[in-house]
Amino acid sequence: MSGALALSGLVKRFGEEVAVDGLDLEIGEGEFFSLLGSSGCGKTTTLRMIAGFERPDEGRIQLDGADLAQVPPHKRPVNTVFQSYALFPFLDVHDNVAFGLRYQHTTKHEARRRVGAALDLVQMGSMAKRKPHQLSGGQQQRVALARALVLEPTVLLLDEPMGALDAKLRKQLQIELRSLQKTVGTTFVYVTHDQDEALTMSDRLAVLDKGRVKQVGTPSEVYSTPANIHVATFLGTTNLWDAHVIAADDAGMRCKVGSIELLVAGQDAESGDAVSVMVRPERVEVAASPNGVAGANVLQGRVDTLTFRGAHTNVVLECADLRIEAHVANVAGAPPPWLCEGAEVCVQVSPGALRVLTS
Ligand SMILES: Nc1ncnc2c1ncn2[C@@H]1O[C@H](COP(=O)(O)OP(=O)(O)OP(=O)(O)O)[C@@H](O)[C@H]1O
Ligand SMILES: [Mg+2]
Repeated sequence: MSGALALSGLVKRFGEEVAVDGLDLEIGEGEFFSLLGSSGCGKTTTLRMIAGFERPDEGRIQLDGADLAQVPPHKRPVNTVFQSYALFPFLDVHDNVAFGLRYQHTTKHEARRRVGAALDLVQMGSMAKRKPHQLSGGQQQRVALARALVLEPTVLLLDEPMGALDAKLRKQLQIELRSLQKTVGTTFVYVTHDQDEALTMSDRLAVLDKGRVKQVGTPSEVYSTPANIHVATFLGTTNLWDAHVIAADDAGMRCKVGSIELLVAGQDAESGDAVSVMVRPERVEVAASPNGVAGANVLQGRVDTLTFRGAHTNVVLECADLRIEAHVANVAGAPPPWLCEGAEVCVQVSPGALRVLTS
């Protein structure tokens, strides 16, 4: 197997604008790797440099150890699936998929076998005779995928390929695409601004901002242990407070957050440092009464607002001068009776659920 990509010190400028600003990434063989970031952060530009449509101003792209700088786009073992599927309207599904094989020296028999296999892979074998206008958006998307996969690229680049699909279909295709990638073993570099998509599908992902990498990790690493404020706030929702460290030792960091003291696990900052403290809402525990609750960071709070969100209830709590958002799972289908607006409750956040961020 092959398909290991190394991007080092990549820079791309358009006039005054720096679209990609010193990007370093190592993407492993057969990995499903996502580039996640908001509009304009340089995702497409990065893919275009890997594909060879755009030349980097600085830096290097290596595939399996070989520098790609002198390799023209059509000679790179890389294919791209774009947001707009751009199927040929007058060709049927089979011929759309077969189109790219014209430039590879395959026999008719071999071409038919490969097109059939690619269509089966995306579950479109039964629609080979249809024209694109006779297909739904999701089906067209599958054909576009088959068209890229039939060429057996070492690396497949996907640029927001589900952007045009509705939420339900996206969810279904996310799961299909993920399992298809594991079947074929091709390295996928997947561009999206949708955090759910990146978390659902990726082996690892890079969070980009203004042409730079803010963090690389597995979905659970970047979600649960964000490296900085940008990543913490870009992915999911979070409580984030200005704080300063009163004391730091083996037991953790004692932080003053408003008028409250919280113990945070870890040793990321020193006594006196101005920091931010974060905790995800689902890691804030809310209980009816303090009876029997022991341990660090136990607070008295009052429920300010409750919002039913289906799987969980959004609870905004006032604990002295802190506003804390908690997500309470609706395990009984509805919030428990004691959890109502105005109720006095017990709030606990374990030191391991809190994080200190210094940048
Ligand atoms: N050909 C170009 N000429 C000038 N500026 C460009 C060109 N291509 C991209 N840019 C600029 O570079 C920056 C990065 O663009 P890019 O298309 O890589 O963003 P993106 O992360 O893919 O955004 P989106 O999520 O909106 O697709 C943007 O500010 C964009 O305006
Ligand atoms: Mg883009």
